[in-house]
Amino acid sequence: MRRTKIVHLIDAAHPVNDVLVKGWVRTRRDSKNFSFIELNDGSCLKNIQVVADAAIADYDNVKRLNTGAAVAVTGRLIPSQGSGQKWEIQAEGVTIIGAADEDYPLQKKRHSDEFLRSIAHLRPRTNKYGAAFRIRSTLAYAVHTFFRERGFTCIHSPIITGSDCEGAGEMFRVTTLDLNDIPKKEGKVDFSADFFGREASLTVSGQLEAEMFAMALGDVYTFGPTFRAENSNTSRHVAEFWMVEPEMAFCDLAGNMTLGQELIQFLTRYILDHAADDIDLFARFVDKGLRACLDGILSSEFVRLPYTEAVNILKTARRKFDHDPVYGKDLQSEHERYITEVHFKRPVIIYDYPMEIKPFYMRVNDDGRTVAAMDVLVPGIGEIIGGSQREERLDVLTARMDDMGLDRRDYWWYIDSRRYGSVPHSGFGMGFERVMMLMTGIRNIRDVLPFPRTPGSIEF
Ligand code: 4AD
Ligand code: MG
Repeated sequence: MRRTKIVHLIDAAHPVNDVLVKGWVRTRRDSKNFSFIELNDGSCLKNIQVVADAAIADYDNVKRLNTGAAVAVTGRLIPSQGSGQKWEIQAEGVTIIGAADEDYPLQKKRHSDEFLRSIAHLRPRTNKYGAAFRIRSTLAYAVHTFFRERGFTCIHSPIITGSDCEGAGEMFRVTTLDLNDIPKKEGKVDFSADFFGREASLTVSGQLEAEMFAMALGDVYTFGPTFRAENSNTSRHVAEFWMVEPEMAFCDLAGNMTLGQELIQFLTRYILDHAADDIDLFARFVDKGLRACLDGILSSEFVRLPYTEAVNILKTARRKFDHDPVYGKDLQSEHERYITEVHFKRPVIIYDYPMEIKPFYMRVNDDGRTVAAMDVLVPGIGEIIGGSQREERLDVLTARMDDMGLDRRDYWWYIDSRRYGSVPHSGFGMGFERVMMLMTGIRNIRDVLPFPRTPGSIEF
């Protein structure tokens, strides 16, 4: 007999005579003549209740079932006598597939997020984390759906790369050498020839490669893991995260902003429609303001605000910030959140940043001082998207690279794209974990990654 997933039994239209379910025991309760087992198989938030009569042949097995044990149950799906569920399974056979030791850490009680982080290998078995990772899966599917519906081509950009897209020097180095053989220059490790004789790192962004494909296929996107070697301990930064990066030929900054807004609204709508039960758990137990926040995203036009005006708003705010807002500096997380949560109370797109604080590839505006950059900020998170119109003019691009001390030879292929049929183009990167935080109300990025990578956490 084929096993049926619990998600298909919970809302069954009729009783079923022969069912087989396999899952893990959440709880077992015994009365004189019966045992009740709450069984979960991860297919949905809900458990199915199994009722095992003390008279069945396998009742010895039932009495040995601890929380956490894996079990196969055959029986009949019948209307439940108890309240709280429509159906239950009247067990006929109960087989233990894998017993659980008595010290199983996830006994029925509320566990703190800190504790669950220390058992990241088990936490997907809790309601909260099971729901979070089902939502993550649905969101990933929604990302591909959004782009496919709009005719974008998915590009798998490389993980190992020879270029530093963001120019921030936050790269993890890749080496093929034995650690003892790594050459040293003046006492320091010399990484200049470590990847089969060339310098290589883990990618911080697939953008530069995506740009090459946009010049051939028009509208493209990448969606994959990216890496930042920043030794920071914040609730919204990790060393390994997933990024969604569209890149569009013949598109300016305004078109880029429109796509960013449409993408976030599409994902919000999709998750409310396709993961309603799981979202409901977060709206009830994790963030009471979640529904209002998601409704706000769906119903509002995102504000479009030049960087200069953002700085003015911050300077005249009646709020004392830890860092004084200064024109010409990056906005701090506290600034971003003030603008989106307090001042406008809806998503805000800040654009036209001073060129000194942005990477070489962003298009220089006519004022000669700012670049066509944009950051999308959302309540509760701050920056969720960073992007720009790209510099398509060969002379402006190379002059900027020279000014910034970049070696043109390292980017010869990138420069080539400006020599052969260059066109205005734009794109952005959306942090997938930040989207997860927005959709669930989870406020620590470590809790939306299966096995988060932060300084000091590589245990699992
Ligand atoms: O603003 P960032 O650094 O932009 C880029 O990398 C561009 N090359 C993207 C592009 O235009 N194709 O990163 C983009 C987004 C941020 O807005 C944020 O959501 C997320 O990636 N992000 C991080 N998420 C988690 N941990 C980190 N350390 C992150 N750094 C960036
Ligand atoms: Mg950014």
